[in-house]
Amino acid sequence: MPAFAPSTYDAIILGAGAAGLFCAATAGQRGRRVLLLDHADAPGKKILISGGGRCNFTNIHTQPDRYLSANPHFAKSALGRYSAQDFIDLVDAHGIAWHEKTLGQLFCDGSARQIVAMLLDECDKGAVEIALGHPVRAVSHADGQYHVTYGDRSAAAPALVIATGGPSIPKMGATGFAYDLARQFGLKVVEPRPALVPLTLGGDETLFRSLSGVATEVIARAGKTMFREAALFTHKGLSGPAILQVSSYWRHGDPVGIDFLPDAPAGWLTAAKRNQPRASLRSLLGTMLPDRLAATLGERIGGDARLADTPDKLLQAAEQRLRAWAFHPNGTEGYAKAEVTAGGISTDGLSSQTMEARKVPGLYAIGEAVDVTGWLGGYNFQWAWASGHAAGQAI
Ligand code: FDA
Repeated sequence: MPAFAPSTYDAIILGAGAAGLFCAATAGQRGRRVLLLDHADAPGKKILISGGGRCNFTNIHTQPDRYLSANPHFAKSALGRYSAQDFIDLVDAHGIAWHEKTLGQLFCDGSARQIVAMLLDECDKGAVEIALGHPVRAVSHADGQYHVTYGDRSAAAPALVIATGGPSIPKMGATGFAYDLARQFGLKVVEPRPALVPLTLGGDETLFRSLSGVATEVIARAGKTMFREAALFTHKGLSGPAILQVSSYWRHGDPVGIDFLPDAPAGWLTAAKRNQPRASLRSLLGTMLPDRLAATLGERIGGDARLADTPDKLLQAAEQRLRAWAFHPNGTEGYAKAEVTAGGISTDGLSSQTMEARKVPGLYAIGEAVDVTGWLGGYNFQWAWASGHAAGQAI
């Protein structure tokens, strides 16, 4: 038992990451007395390293179908009530300069530090009390109050928000604490898995690792989902935005399809045979793809013969293969390299309006801890802001 009576608040928020900071600011500015707790020694550490230090803080194309969840409808309400434009307005109000990089992705011109400073300023406006460097030792619920013991202190409040994220990048202090706490209160957890993560190649495909550093624009597919962006070969397998995107949809044992010719018109090879009969498949590929990649693919599809000497049927088959190259990843690079965690606290037990647990009054879950995972490109922060806002309005 703590030596002193617990300090009391209207809400205790566990996790001073993107979602927790935003939720705390929202609730604090509504006059709620908020305690924001984190075991890390600084708030918003993932924000600081995000977007290569410039934080891809939202995406102007945010819409619910760019999120994975066992319940694809769950994110609609929160995303609809706190939009990318709402966050842009806040960023503008703080005089933070930004630019669109590509595909609707908005980044700070300066530094991700500006986003953390903005969130702390917003927390300050709401008189949020922030306690850092304190691991949470125990959480219990009695008489309508959540009791949290952290370090040698304790606090109590009628509302408790789980905002401790997922286990991606454990060396930054990420944990599966959210899931343990959710289970403690009877909430279900959808099996978590690394997402937005590089894929590893083995067996026959180990050969492709020698292409480490080679990047090219492709269409990558996992099941029915496809993304057109860059793919990058690494010393372990495949990465780059297109691969990170499909990794969230990929399941062990499934192939990943790569179209290496996204810009070539159908029948490209047979047309080339008429126009450049003396060229080889390998040399022709070199006009479309980085040299080392063209050589490796060419070798695998017997690309040294002159086009003129290759029957149309074989050229059609080669083109087909280049448009749907099937890689068979043997795994991912795991939580150590995963930008996010897919799965998490099941949305079944949560209100999509408020993020409150339906059967556990006063308990909320927000951000990455919840089974809502965005595409690469600012979508995950937008979910953190939107879900944090929804809970911050309700507590
Ligand atoms: P977040 O992980 O931000 O915060 C959780 C907090 O809880 C942390 O402060 C942690 O210390 C704390 N915590 C954990 N366990 C605890 C415990 N037991 N007790 C107390 N505190 C505990 N997204 C995007 O939209 N645009 C981008 O540019 C990027 N870039 C990016 C780069 C890299 C390298 C990574 C790893 C991730 C991204 N992301 C991203 C994803 C984005 O960072 C992520 O989705 C959000 O930070 C999730 O916000 P949360 O607040 O839910 O968790």
